[in-house]
Amino acid sequence: MRVDSLDAYFGSVHAVKGVGMLVHDRQVTAIIGPSGCGKSTFLRCLNRMHETVPTARVEGEVELDGRDIYARGVNAIAVRKHIGMVFQRPTPFPTMSIRDNVAAGLRVIDGNRPSRRETDEIVEQALTRAALWNEVKDRLSTSAISLSGGQQQRLCIARALATEPRVLLLDEPTASLDPISTQAVEELVYELRTDMTIVIVTHNMQQAARVSDSTAFFLNGELVEMSATNDIFTTPQDDRTEAYITGRFG
Ligand SMILES: Nc1ncnc2c1ncn2[C@@H]1O[C@H](COP(=O)(O)OP(=O)(O)O)[C@@H](O)[C@H]1O
Ligand SMILES: [Mg+2]
Repeated sequence: MRVDSLDAYFGSVHAVKGVGMLVHDRQVTAIIGPSGCGKSTFLRCLNRMHETVPTARVEGEVELDGRDIYARGVNAIAVRKHIGMVFQRPTPFPTMSIRDNVAAGLRVIDGNRPSRRETDEIVEQALTRAALWNEVKDRLSTSAISLSGGQQQRLCIARALATEPRVLLLDEPTASLDPISTQAVEELVYELRTDMTIVIVTHNMQQAARVSDSTAFFLNGELVEMSATNDIFTTPQDDRTEAYITGRFG
């Protein structure tokens, strides 16, 4: 993925300022920075979620496989199928079963929806990849809200995986989870990158260090610095990055 001169606004608030970034294929890219610096907004520009906010506006380019997702005629819903997203708080559909939650994205696009048997296979695969299958296989028809927070978050990851995205965007996916669930999600992220490109927002620097290959530091809507995760935490080039990672603000 390649991001070029990206600006994002909420009305007159300039939340993302001229960001350019190369997101490496089949790697994990972490986005760190203090609260309010535009991490979530940037992430939401990567799959055209930002524009779902009424006063929001985006300028610039986001290329996936050489095609600008903001080009005229590109369908935003199709984009979100290829570039899946998981949010800070688990967002299962509360009235749907575990199975139907995972299958929910399959119906959104493509006139020909999969048969019941095909759907069951996709659901099993997605839950297996999300490391949740063994915990839920005997209660697929029960409500998703019967699951714990950590299970709900893995369910949301399974829902995103069901459409076989090329890219998975995670916005502080463990912020509301206990340490054991956090570890499960981190291990999952680490494993998934063999199949897909992952961008994860986190304000936990230890988490960025554990799961990512590259790290980007944002401040006041700008990308200050991006490099290999090990380099950014040992030899940051910018004073502001160093101040942040050594805990002088944040
Ligand atoms: N829905 C919104 N309406 C107006 N301003 C918003 C909205 N969401 C975020 N902002 C503003 O955009 C800026 C960036 O926010 P955000 O991307 O959520 O930061 P982060 O994820 O780094 O905490 C902040 O100044 C925030 O107040
Ligand atoms: Mg945020």
